Amino acid sequence: MSGFVEKPEPLQVPGLTHLHTGKVRDLYRNEAGDLVMVASDRISAYDWVLPTEIPDKGRVLTRLSLWWFDQLADLVPHHVLSTDLPAGAPADWEGRTLVCRSLRMVPVECVARGYLAGSGLAEYEATRTVCGLALPEGLTDGSELPAPIFTPATKAAVGDHDENVTYEEVAREVGAETAALLRQTTLAVYGRARDIARERGIVLADTKFEFGLDADGRLVIADEVLTPDSSRFWPAASWSPGRAQPSYDKQYVRDWLTSPASGWDRRSEQPPPALPAEVVAATRSRYLEAYEMLTGLPWS
Ligand SMILES: Nc1ncnc2c1ncn2[C@@H]1O[C@H](COP(=O)(O)OP(=O)(O)OP(=O)(O)O)[C@@H](O)[C@H]1O
Ligand SMILES: [Mg+2]
Repeated sequence: MSGFVEKPEPLQVPGLTHLHTGKVRDLYRNEAGDLVMVASDRISAYDWVLPTEIPDKGRVLTRLSLWWFDQLADLVPHHVLSTDLPAGAPADWEGRTLVCRSLRMVPVECVARGYLAGSGLAEYEATRTVCGLALPEGLTDGSELPAPIFTPATKAAVGDHDENVTYEEVAREVGAETAALLRQTTLAVYGRARDIARERGIVLADTKFEFGLDADGRLVIADEVLTPDSSRFWPAASWSPGRAQPSYDKQYVRDWLTSPASGWDRRSEQPPPALPAEVVAATRSRYLEAYEMLTGLPWS
């Protein structure tokens, strides 16, 4: 079982047509045909959208993505048109709403990995490969890879796992030219971001991008970028291969959900329980800390 513990109802806003409720973002179309992307405070873990929100999370993801889009602007165009609140939108959408170009999304999760963790580690331990790419012996949990790699995945529906695919499968799906551009752009953006993050004391272990094509067929970077939801950020000071690394993402929530304290069995049919206040507070402060460390800006 998986999905939303409680599926949120889309808001009725005059002039906006609701398109989609994603795990974290709600999508609307405005009268000009642009996409209005509203980041909620929802959090997902183990393929569930949890019943408890993390205050300010939507604003952190939005502000951080905007900051990164600026850092990357010379590498790839981004989808944001405006941060102005659409007329008639609720005041609490402020700071977490982006008016974006409506793109034809490329149906590939473009993952770049510079370090071994997560599904990459599991595959490496079984076969010494990640997404079919051969890697040297001797790597362990958290090791830096000899060079960053492009490890695409298919985009799953809410409640399903993304699945790693080979580069050849991507090329078959989207064409050789687009596949090559996805890989090149993903690795270029990852390289830039990894260097910026490293200067600020954060290891960018891996990250996921989504791209779309504009009306002229140009590749545009979309969705959110380089946030704790789409990336593994590790404090550089405590990075030490050979064990799971502490991280600025939802690890705290995952650890609590799988601890006896939650009373929840991941493999059961039961939806996960509400998060206690201290787990919410600790998770919120990790999101804020990641924002402040990366941007060098105070949150408020
Ligand atoms: N510029 C854009 N044009 C069209 N779609 C976009 C654009 N930017 C992002 N998206 C889509 O908006 C959605 C963002 O919602 P969210 O991240 O909450 O969803 P998700 O859980 O990752 O995926 P899903 O939409 O399958 O639930 C994604 O489906 C993403 O592909
Ligand atoms: Mg998403």
